[in-house]
Amino acid sequence: MLFVWDDSYETGIIEIDQDHKGLVNLINDLYEAMQDGSGGALLLPIFSALKHYTETHFAKEESHMVECDVPDQDSHFQEHKLMVEKLADLERRHRKGEAAISLQTLTFLRDWLKNHICAIDRAMASQLKNKGMDQGA
Ligand SMILES: [Fe+2]
Ligand SMILES: [Fe+2]
Repeated sequence: MLFVWDDSYETGIIEIDQDHKGLVNLINDLYEAMQDGSGGALLLPIFSALKHYTETHFAKEESHMVECDVPDQDSHFQEHKLMVEKLADLERRHRKGEAAISLQTLTFLRDWLKNHICAIDRAMASQLKNKGMDQGA
């Protein structure tokens, strides 16, 4: 089923929410590609888009956390690092010809929305707002 963005994903910081919506779009692109049987073929461009997404989005979150000196930065950074490694591993296995990587990637990304964005990113955003970060930035 297509993934629908709802308020429970919102952090209230516009630039972060926009990035997260971009990730939801990528998840839906992957899902649609799987539905029409082109999941495997489209996986490499999707991995490349995910790589770009993680590099730019994580750098943004991390610099805000450092700037505002939010607590628990290290565990948040660690989660970002693990996601980058997980995606690299999925891509490597896909390139080697392993089957069913599309589904594993889809499941991983949906879990990420629930476990990272809904919990850790939202907690980070409320810390950033407490520290006076401009929410429209
Ligand atoms: Fe995020
Ligand atoms: Fe994050």
